[in-house]
Amino acid sequence: MKNIVILISGGGSNMQAIVQATQRDHWPERLGARVAAVISNQAQARGLAIAQAHGVATQVVDHTQYPTREAFDAQLMASIDSHQPTLVVLAGFMRILTPGFVAHYSGRLLNIHPSLLPAFTGLHTHRRAIEAGCKFAGATVHLVTAELDHGPILAQAVVPVLPNDDEASLAARVLTQEHLIYPRAIAQLLAQL
Ligand code: GAR
Repeated sequence: MKNIVILISGGGSNMQAIVQATQRDHWPERLGARVAAVISNQAQARGLAIAQAHGVATQVVDHTQYPTREAFDAQLMASIDSHQPTLVVLAGFMRILTPGFVAHYSGRLLNIHPSLLPAFTGLHTHRRAIEAGCKFAGATVHLVTAELDHGPILAQAVVPVLPNDDEASLAARVLTQEHLIYPRAIAQLLAQL
């Protein structure tokens, strides 16, 4: 059985979709993997309770307790590696990772970003898509490389931007699609590892 470690900072709905996919027999194929741990940099992350409710071990590595990014990432790597993961999955993890961290998990570190990359890297993607007059928005699953929100694209989902959309309504429409494409992309990548 392959192990997945998921990193979160907040609500954890993508993490929940992935955990549920691993706990189903066929979704969309057998993942053959378990979520060994969910790690948050925020002690208050709502996703921690969701993970625990699904029987998944949780840990907090609070970035404010470390003097440098390197020191935080070193502790994060030690916590992650104690679970011997095949894949490390960023699911709403809102910290920039050091090049050393990214290199350590090269080819097995995934992120989901709430835009159609390469458009709208960074923050406030939905607000910026609406302000730019985009007719479509979406989400992207990609392998993580040293450059923020870049790296080989594994999956995308497209949704319409509707005339009366605000940031929240567009985010909700995109998030529904994220919950579909992330577990599928993970299943496909796991089949190759
Ligand atoms: C998701 O929309 C994800 O794409 C985004 O944060 C949200 C987390 O929701 N990630 C980023 O913005 C990363 N730069 P969740 O905690 O409910 O999965």
